[in-house]
Amino acid sequence: MPEGKIYLIFILILKLVPVIRFLREGRDVECPVGSNLREVALNAGIELYGVKGKLLNCGGYGQCITCFVAVVGSNSSEPFSPLTALEIKKLKQQGENWRLACQCLVKSSAIVLTRPQQTFNNLKISLEEALKLPLPK
Ligand code: FES
Repeated sequence: MPEGKIYLIFILILKLVPVIRFLREGRDVECPVGSNLREVALNAGIELYGVKGKLLNCGGYGQCITCFVAVVGSNSSEPFSPLTALEIKKLKQQGENWRLACQCLVKSSAIVLTRPQQTFNNLKISLEEALKLPLPK
């Protein structure tokens, strides 16, 4: 295969790598399509859990209901796998855009707020700034 074609394919693959923008932490983390959001966060050193979750999380099996994130931006209508039956049942009382990170598989780039149950004083300003920066698909 000619070197030019290899370079072009490489560039196309790079453009397809989704980015998860962690709003609270001010970090962008690249991950392959199909990645588990909990694993993406933990592997990047992002703190997903509040106090209860730090002590009692289930390790990603959908049992503890402590790995909340809020999906606050994306340039696609469905950046993660659809809500699981467990999330539909367990997140009834939470925000409309809340997910359990351990149940989310990444389909495309998104902006997420970890621990949405905790105060984030600069939410509005940080979100405006995060939305201004381009996200790959
Ligand atoms: S890690 Fe326990 S529900 Fe997600």
